[in-house]
Amino acid sequence: MDVAQGFEGLVDEVQKSFGEDIVALRRDIHREPELGFDTKKTAEKILAALEGLPLEIETGVAENGIVATLKGGGEGPTIALRADMDALPIHEETGLPFASGTDGKMHACGHDGHTSMLVGAAKTLSQGPLRERLNGTVKFVFQPAEEGGGGGRVMVEEGVAEGIDQIFALHLWPGLAFGTAATKAGPIMAAADKFEMEIKGTGGHGAMPHLSADAVVIAAHVATALQTIVSREVDPVQPAVLTIGEIGAGTAFNIIPETARMGGTVRTIDDDLRHRLPERMEELAKGVARAMRADAELDYTFSYPVTRNDPESAALALKVAGSLFGEDRAVELAHPSMGGEDFAFFLQKLPGAYIWLGVGDVSGLHTPQFAFDEDILPQGAALLTAIALEALSD
Ligand code: NI
Repeated sequence: MDVAQGFEGLVDEVQKSFGEDIVALRRDIHREPELGFDTKKTAEKILAALEGLPLEIETGVAENGIVATLKGGGEGPTIALRADMDALPIHEETGLPFASGTDGKMHACGHDGHTSMLVGAAKTLSQGPLRERLNGTVKFVFQPAEEGGGGGRVMVEEGVAEGIDQIFALHLWPGLAFGTAATKAGPIMAAADKFEMEIKGTGGHGAMPHLSADAVVIAAHVATALQTIVSREVDPVQPAVLTIGEIGAGTAFNIIPETARMGGTVRTIDDDLRHRLPERMEELAKGVARAMRADAELDYTFSYPVTRNDPESAALALKVAGSLFGEDRAVELAHPSMGGEDFAFFLQKLPGAYIWLGVGDVSGLHTPQFAFDEDILPQGAALLTAIALEALSD
């Protein structure tokens, strides 16, 4: 590695020195996807890849997470780079030679890529000349359970954020031009909350509806009524989403079921709105259900908060991406995504930034066909490397 100053040649150097290792690790992780906190084999693969590097390694963080610490050549602050490790309960349909070997589990959100890019950054920054340039410490944080388990929250509860001054994370992003980094000051991902609703009617014979309170028909009315919350009660310039993703009732064609249940998610950016919506959902559902001789019960969970970037961290990331990739490949986003992200828990404690890295026009995240051009991986590793160098340059 002969990148003495600046970032010129960094992408090529990472590609040349570690490109093959990064891709091999990504494929290895992709082949054996693990869910939630249960990322033991993934952690073993990461540890094997980090072996021999001058890192202080802590394992068993948030069950199967890893924090690896690199001390730089000079004194200074501590920054962290975080990657998520977990896969999704999806059956892979990419047809790739290194496709998932486990039915019903797949790296469909690119976390295999995030993890291998972070290992690539650790390898790169551990090289003598680059390590010497770091005035401070870099922590490489490998986090399980991003997909719903709140591994980020557990890591923060276990004290991972303590002693860190600034934190960054990348996410591969379909729909964004290949090799383009994008971020923004303030909210970049929405608060992602979830709910379950039960409609409690009265069951009966399919031929005698007058003797029952049909949970199916009432659930249909409640589902429709709930759609008026965002359309009629939320300021139209305020982002909000209410999606019912599950609905179910009944056991046979000729029985009116007593109960129906639905499950869904609510996405918001504004905190007041976030906390106001559950009450309105409950009032509306109960009102509709009671008007139809039934009742409704709402079970609401505040899950991931808004992922809110620190303006200075976001500016640093864009500046670094601009000089690394070229100005046209560093984009300031106009709007957040309504997707959720548990990196939010770190950003509640620390200044930092969440950055999207474009993989172009490919099948979306969380789809069975999600796949990306692996040329992005050394580029992402170089971006993480350059962010650390820049943040610890003084
Ligand atoms: Ni993801």
